[in-house]
Amino acid sequence: MFKMHTLLCAIFLILQLSPPMPVISSPSGARHYKSIFSFGDSLADTGNGPVIFERFSIFNRVTRPPYGSTFFGRPSGRDCDDRIIIDFIAENLGLPYVPATQVHNGSFHQGANFAVAAATTLDADFYHGRDIPGAPSMFPLNTSLGVQLEWFESMKPYLCRTGRECKEFFGSSLFFVGEFGVNDYHFSFQKKTVQEVRSFVPDIVATISMAIERLITKHAARSLVVPGVIPSGCSPPILTKFADGSPAAYDSKTGCLKAYNELGMHHNSLLQAELAKLQAKYRNVKIIYADYFGPVMDMVESPHKFG
Ligand SMILES: *[C@@H]1O[C@H](CO)[C@@H](O)[C@H](O)[C@H]1NC(C)=O
Ligand SMILES: *[C@@H]1O[C@H](CO)[C@@H](O)[C@H](O)[C@H]1NC(C)=O
Repeated sequence: MFKMHTLLCAIFLILQLSPPMPVISSPSGARHYKSIFSFGDSLADTGNGPVIFERFSIFNRVTRPPYGSTFFGRPSGRDCDDRIIIDFIAENLGLPYVPATQVHNGSFHQGANFAVAAATTLDADFYHGRDIPGAPSMFPLNTSLGVQLEWFESMKPYLCRTGRECKEFFGSSLFFVGEFGVNDYHFSFQKKTVQEVRSFVPDIVATISMAIERLITKHAARSLVVPGVIPSGCSPPILTKFADGSPAAYDSKTGCLKAYNELGMHHNSLLQAELAKLQAKYRNVKIIYADYFGPVMDMVESPHKFG
């Protein structure tokens, strides 16, 4: 269920960063950021998943071909056979592909990727305490947003020393927080109705918001990109796992499951409202919402536009 983003591998082309971020689209390709720090799940994971899954003896199909056949020439640990969004952003900023922290043996001064496939926003205990997704699943693993932030904080002494040096370094770094949420909802759907899962949304958005605030106030982040969730109701895993006998459950135009997409829209609208609040509070910081929902809907509604 965390292998959701096959259809997202290539959405970078139409990814709308809103409001527009001039530094990312700089035609000269000039480098404005020293580094990228990334937190998230399979939509942002550049190789941590296989290493973490291995520790739990969980088979991860991204370690086998055809993953990596389109671009890297070998499975790269990405849940995609080409590059993912963060790779294209790194390319555009003239930075190396953001190295996965569980894999890379070398410097993280030009970026560190803490994202892990299947990661949740809320801590794993929250779900296991409610028997979600239900035994014998080991998911969610201990790789939540909070855990990824702890990994970042443990790495910090190796990245910069004095307060001033850290402020300068992180102030000129780009922070990617997300996408988070998709896995929280997907694990929950196995035990809860969409309506019940909806009650988790405010906590999930609040947790993302606290993480952003921690990066700003404790670590001097000045530029943050915060993606919303994708329309899960159009994703093959949801469509197969939660197939509904009633035609009314489906959008007649797209064939997507309406309730799951509505949940995603609800998440995205609460998230955007929260980001607007944070932006008003921290005026010298740039907080950018990245819409992952609209571009995927566009692909679903007008596949002919994409070949
Ligand atoms: C990591 O790099 C160092 C220095 O380049 C090397 O000595 C060490 O063997 C490497 N470790 C692994 C696990 O590859
Ligand atoms: C989860 O990971 C964090 C950070 O690595 C660690 O401090 C914590 O003990 C772990 N929790 C469990 C239950 O393994």
